[in-house]
Amino acid sequence: MHTQRQDSGDIKYNESLKKKIEKLKKSRNAVIIVHNYQRDEIQEIADISGDSLALSQAAVRTDADVIVFCGVQFMAESASILNPGKKVLLPVMEAGCPLADMITPEKLRAKKKQYPGAAVVCYVNSSAEVKAASDIACTSSNAIEVVRSLKEKDIIFVPDKNLGRYVQANLPEKNIILWDGFCPTHIRVQEEDIVKAKELHKGAEVIAHPECNPEVLALSDHICSTGGMFAYVKKSPAREFIISTESGMLYKLQKDNPDKKFYLPTPHLVCANMKLITLGWIAHSLEKMVYEIKVDDEVRKKAKVTLDRMLTVTMGKPEK
Ligand code: 13P
Repeated sequence: MHTQRQDSGDIKYNESLKKKIEKLKKSRNAVIIVHNYQRDEIQEIADISGDSLALSQAAVRTDADVIVFCGVQFMAESASILNPGKKVLLPVMEAGCPLADMITPEKLRAKKKQYPGAAVVCYVNSSAEVKAASDIACTSSNAIEVVRSLKEKDIIFVPDKNLGRYVQANLPEKNIILWDGFCPTHIRVQEEDIVKAKELHKGAEVIAHPECNPEVLALSDHICSTGGMFAYVKKSPAREFIISTESGMLYKLQKDNPDKKFYLPTPHLVCANMKLITLGWIAHSLEKMVYEIKVDDEVRKKAKVTLDRMLTVTMGKPEK
């Protein structure tokens, strides 16, 4: 049974961990970078929070010596690829991304042989080796822009098939060759969950991440990255929103918009990997300087070209 006494114990424990992290952060000259899907108490201590693209860019701009990346492996890896001179720490080494694990560089190379004239676009949710074997990266916030920028008509899009389908629907002039990968969290939302949520919250707008199934996207008012959701909610006149993405998003949406209401279409929108990181593991990470994410230099250089090309499309030039 969960008691009030337990709650106040947890709060005291978290507060003491936050103080410890603050001290360690100063002594290490570290910055805490946090993805929008992290636990609420971790978002509270973030120096920088955002979506995958914003975090890659922030990682390049920081002048801290140490980056504590609160997200999953591929995100910390991207920070390390873009910042070879800095120490990038992932507080829990096992925080992986099942979607990123649905492709290997060997399988990608075999696909490239099947379509020799096609360009390869990899979603950032992929390993450094897969990035190194691709032509350009993209995130959910710039996938359409990235694919549109390419001269090739045939595009091998890896590894998320739902994001690939979404790009195809927006760019009929391209021929998108899909990979059979998916996010196990986003595909948990079913069409009927959205229908029921709309019945329950009449007038609420549905905002969905493009990793959701096409039937869910078809019922949505707006489709965007996690970062795009903040901008959309801010300018929308609606008072209530059904948010079809990982549950961590609700923390900042609610904080920034206290007069608006947010609902998940299903309580199952929880990414177990994102939730592995806790305040305790962040303190441990800064104390012991673990777990450092490093990429083999040859792979790193090729993967950096792939990420830099994306940043050039998005911003006119790669971040320095
Ligand atoms: P965003 O780039 O929208 O933050 O998405 C990251 C992600 O991993 C979604 O599952």
